[in-house]
Amino acid sequence: MHDFSYKDGELYCEEVPLAAIADEYGTPVYVYSSATIIDHFNKLDRALAELDHLICYAIKANSNLAVLRLLAGLGSGFDVVSRGELARVQAAGGQGGDCLFAGVGKTVAEIEQALQAGVYAFNAESEPELERIDRVAQRLGVKAPVSVRVNPDVDAGTHSKITTGTYENKFGVAIERAERVYEMASRLPALRIRGVHMHIGSQLTSVAPFENAVRKLLPLVTRCKERFGIEFFSIGGGMGIVYESALASGRSDWWRREEAATILTPQSYAEIMVPLLQPLGLKILVEPGRFIVGNAGVLLTQVEYVKRTGQKNFVIVDAAMNDLLRPAFYGAYHEIVALRQNSELAIPTDVVGPICESGDYFCQDRMIPRVREGDRLALLSAGAYSFVMASNYNTRPMPCEIMVRGNRSDMIRQRESTEALWAQERLPSWLE
Ligand code: LLP
Repeated sequence: MHDFSYKDGELYCEEVPLAAIADEYGTPVYVYSSATIIDHFNKLDRALAELDHLICYAIKANSNLAVLRLLAGLGSGFDVVSRGELARVQAAGGQGGDCLFAGVGKTVAEIEQALQAGVYAFNAESEPELERIDRVAQRLGVKAPVSVRVNPDVDAGTHSKITTGTYENKFGVAIERAERVYEMASRLPALRIRGVHMHIGSQLTSVAPFENAVRKLLPLVTRCKERFGIEFFSIGGGMGIVYESALASGRSDWWRREEAATILTPQSYAEIMVPLLQPLGLKILVEPGRFIVGNAGVLLTQVEYVKRTGQKNFVIVDAAMNDLLRPAFYGAYHEIVALRQNSELAIPTDVVGPICESGDYFCQDRMIPRVREGDRLALLSAGAYSFVMASNYNTRPMPCEIMVRGNRSDMIRQRESTEALWAQERLPSWLE
């Protein structure tokens, strides 16, 4: 669920009309609802209450300091994948000790920084990486807490670019080899074996792949507890969200309908996972990103032109693939609604950005009520993997970000200035 809704025909985020934000800060602008973030975190936390657990929010989904500070205040841990992400958590007031450090290519500098920050554990992905972590820890005279990412070889049934738990992809060590990798790690003097880690993919909309993966790993996790005294089992992130909301269709009963039942909820997830995991007697870590923030954000954009070519109706907006890459990159669906609800006839429409690439679209041939130049639209469910994947392509500044809390809104990242776009660039001496 989320806190974006129409009141008297105006789209609100909590108690703030989105049109007021667009007026004040301009477009394109990302807007996040803190109530939705808090609600999603608490729902998952409550669903897992019977387990000794820690939610380690995967900050790659949305790493704005305000989002991290909000979650740190709720008692969240963090899943980080780079020195930059670790530094961000610390800059937001989070503790290194609450961070899992993941990623397939950890550099020596990253390992050093993570050891100095006292991370909770490294999720190691290979033997050479374990050896490297051991060498760096020896040099610094500390013990490095590690878990091994085990690839359960389970198809997550999600988009090929975000599935990670089969032998087709680069992640983790094969389950058949995992125990030998643990034995090898146990002989390295500066490592402290602390857990087992898995992550099978993102935007999973049923519990079955999680269940299959955990069932496959249970014997290994049990043996690792006996042999190496592990303390935790991290079952990764990947809980999917609903991208089709009730807002566009006006179907306020959507959540009660049949489709909704196939969507993963904290309850349906916990119903299966808690009884499976509880007998292990271990701390259970989860690493959700999208589930916490995905539905909590929207991208507001303004219609610049409406154009008909041949059979097609194009709505050209001031946001582009550089601001929100997911439709161009994954063919992802983001619902598009008008800030001012309109009852015009819906017609097949391509909503596109101004960039000279045919991939620069937000939807194609979608039935959308007719809009006019100057109208403002919201692209929904843009809280995860949206701002963080934005770029400066076409020398376009990164959009501004706003956070809402009740009837208050505050800017949490200012729109990039044009000069900032080349501030890091230098002319070579022969061109000065
Ligand atoms: N843990 C690990 C080790 C991960 O690699 C990821 C995401 C997560 C947790 C969090 O997954 P989530 O709960 O958010 O599904 N850019 C893509 C998604 C990439 C996900 C990468 N890994 C998108 O826009 O759909």
